[in-house]
Amino acid sequence: MRRVITYGTFDLLHYGHINLLKRAKEQGDYLVVALSTDEFNKSKGKESFFPYEKRKALLEAIRYVDLVIPEENWEQKVNDVKQYQIDVFVMGDDWKGKFDFLKDLGVEVVYLPRTPEISTTMIKSKLKN
Ligand code: CTP
Repeated sequence: MRRVITYGTFDLLHYGHINLLKRAKEQGDYLVVALSTDEFNKSKGKESFFPYEKRKALLEAIRYVDLVIPEENWEQKVNDVKQYQIDVFVMGDDWKGKFDFLKDLGVEVVYLPRTPEISTTMIKSKLKN
């Protein structure tokens, strides 16, 4: 069984997120999503519209997602990869190159092209105006 992991906030879930999750699942058989907690977002100066538990419930309802775990800090990735016996680490290509160090653990690191013209930031700003 090939186990895949990806990370993100997934606030105001949109089709760019679904597209990413679908392609992440296609990389293997079991998809773990590490979901940024509200506290972790706060430390980055971000605040999500939906709180963690609501974002988690939305992700758990998606057929491509097998497990949602909290992402609480930048450093946990090495531990997650070991703990969940991950074979493939997937991120959108806005993160290209940033996590190549995980290859040293024997993990495949894949950056998938982002879906154009959609982001949580864009939704928020369009709704505001
Ligand atoms: N993603 C994607 N295509 C998009 C938007 C997001 O593939 N159009 C991917 C990101 O690359 C990331 C995951 O979805 O791997 C979660 O991204 P997240 O940052 O939570 O979503 P964004 O819409 O990019 O949110 P923000 O605008 O707050 O950065």
